[in-house]
Amino acid sequence: MKMPGGSNRTGAALAPHHIDAMLEAGREFPPNSRGDESEIARVRVRYAKGGEPIGTMPPPPGVKELAKTAAKAVLGKQPLLFLDKLGERLAFERSGVRLYQALVSKREAYGGFSGGPSRTDLEHLLAEEREHFHMLAAVVEQLGGDPTAVTPSADVHATLSKGIVAVLTDPRTSLVQSLEGILLAELADNECWTALVALAREAGDDDLTTKFEDAEGTEREHLTRVRTWIAAAQSRTAAGGVPFPQAIASEMRSRSQRSSADGSRASGRRTARARAGGRGRGKRKTRRVR
Ligand SMILES: [Fe+2]
Ligand SMILES: [Fe+2]
Repeated sequence: MKMPGGSNRTGAALAPHHIDAMLEAGREFPPNSRGDESEIARVRVRYAKGGEPIGTMPPPPGVKELAKTAAKAVLGKQPLLFLDKLGERLAFERSGVRLYQALVSKREAYGGFSGGPSRTDLEHLLAEEREHFHMLAAVVEQLGGDPTAVTPSADVHATLSKGIVAVLTDPRTSLVQSLEGILLAELADNECWTALVALAREAGDDDLTTKFEDAEGTEREHLTRVRTWIAAAQSRTAAGGVPFPQAIASEMRSRSQRSSADGSRASGRRTARARAGGRGRGKRKTRRVR
C-alpha cells in the first residue's frame, strides 16, 4: 500500500526552534476563565440530569393495538425496546447502501488492488444491505410500527456513523482508507444483528429469529470479506492470523459447522424456506462459491 508523503507539517519536530516560543505563549496567555476541567464535568452532569432524552418512540399506532394482536407475543416483554432496535437496524442498513455506493465510486476513482474488491463484489454487498433494509421495513410494518420513524436508537447510531460517512464521501480518501470506514460499520452491524437475533429468540418467534439469523450470517461474511481486503492491501494476514485468501473459506466452514450443530432446528427452517418458495436461496448459494 503506497503512502503519499513529504508535505505533512503537523508535527512539532519539524520546527524545533519554535517549540520554546509556543510554550512561552501558553504561559503568557493562560485561560481567562477560573477553575479547571472539573467545572466542565459538573456542567455536563447538570445538563444531563435536567435535559430531555435524545429521542422518544413515536406514538405507537400498532403498539396501542398490541394488547389485542399477535404482534404483542412477537415483540416479547419489551415491545418498545424491540421496535427501537428494529428502527435502528433499518436506518443502519439504509445507510449501509449509501456507504457501499460511495465505496463503488472510490473503486472507480482509485482503481482496484491485488486481493481487493471488484466492483461486482461491492455491488453484491450493497444489494444485500438493501435486502436487509427491505426485510426490516416489512417486519416493522407487520409488527404495527412505522418504518419511516427515526427511533431514539436509530438517531444515536446515525450520529455514531457520521465519521464513517464523512470519510467515505471525502474525495481525498482512497479505496483502502474507505474500506477501513466500512470495517467499522460492519463491526457495529455484526454486533447489533447478534443483539436483534437474541431479542427475537427471547420473544420466542422462530420465523423472525430465522430471518435475523440469515441476515447475521450474511453480515459475518461481509465482515470477513472487508477484513481480507484490508489485509490484502497491507500485504498481511487477515484478523485471526488466517492468510487472506483462506479467511473466507474458513468463515464458511465454521458457519456450516454451526448450522449442522443446530440440528433439527436448521432442518425445520430449510423446510419452511422451501415451502415459502425459496426466495434468496439461489443468492446464498452464489455467495458461498464466490
Ligand atoms: Fe448491514
Ligand atoms: Fe454489511
